[in-house]
Amino acid sequence: MTAGDRIRLVDGDITTLDIDAIVNAANEALAGGGGVDGAIHRSAGPELMVACREIGGCPTGQAVITRGFNLKARHVIHTVGPAWRGGDEDRRLADCYRNSLMLAQRDDLATLAFPSISTGVYGFPIKRACRIAIREVIGHFSRHDTPHSVTFCCFGAPDTERYREALAEEGFFL
Ligand code: APR
Repeated sequence: MTAGDRIRLVDGDITTLDIDAIVNAANEALAGGGGVDGAIHRSAGPELMVACREIGGCPTGQAVITRGFNLKARHVIHTVGPAWRGGDEDRRLADCYRNSLMLAQRDDLATLAFPSISTGVYGFPIKRACRIAIREVIGHFSRHDTPHSVTFCCFGAPDTERYREALAEEGFFL
């Protein structure tokens, strides 16, 4: 099984995925918000906020896990992307992907989906961000069997095309 067989690309709403875990682009307070964070909390129901309050917060670049409650996804991995300030944020965005993948591996979750972390409200340029996302996932796959597959769940055709182009740069034609 090659890395390419373990990567999926979909254009759609991450809250609809029937999968072991979806990743949330959260904030350090785990306080909910707009964008994908708002959509995940709406679909999961109020118990998700209770679980986030119990955890208390999450530093940028780190990741924490909760149940998925009313979502089809069994779990939510909450990670906090860096806000774009002009170029020094690559490492912390890579940390988000790496730490989310390591949590999925620790908890033996076979299927995981990422939204495009930091590229909405936090303003990270999509082309740069999705190259980082793809490289971290490929790097994880080269060292670990779990998660078995990762879905990049893009919200709309333009973002999906950016991911398709960045995957092609790495030799994956999806
Ligand atoms: N499914 C998949 N992707 C989605 C969805 C959805 N339902 N809704 C939005 N997106 C996409 C956006 O189009 C964007 O490409 O998620 C990506 C990330 O955008 P944001 O949700 O704005 O996340 P981010 O840029 O990381 O900003 C995080 O925003 O909502 C607040 O609490 C959050 O403060 C935090 C900040």
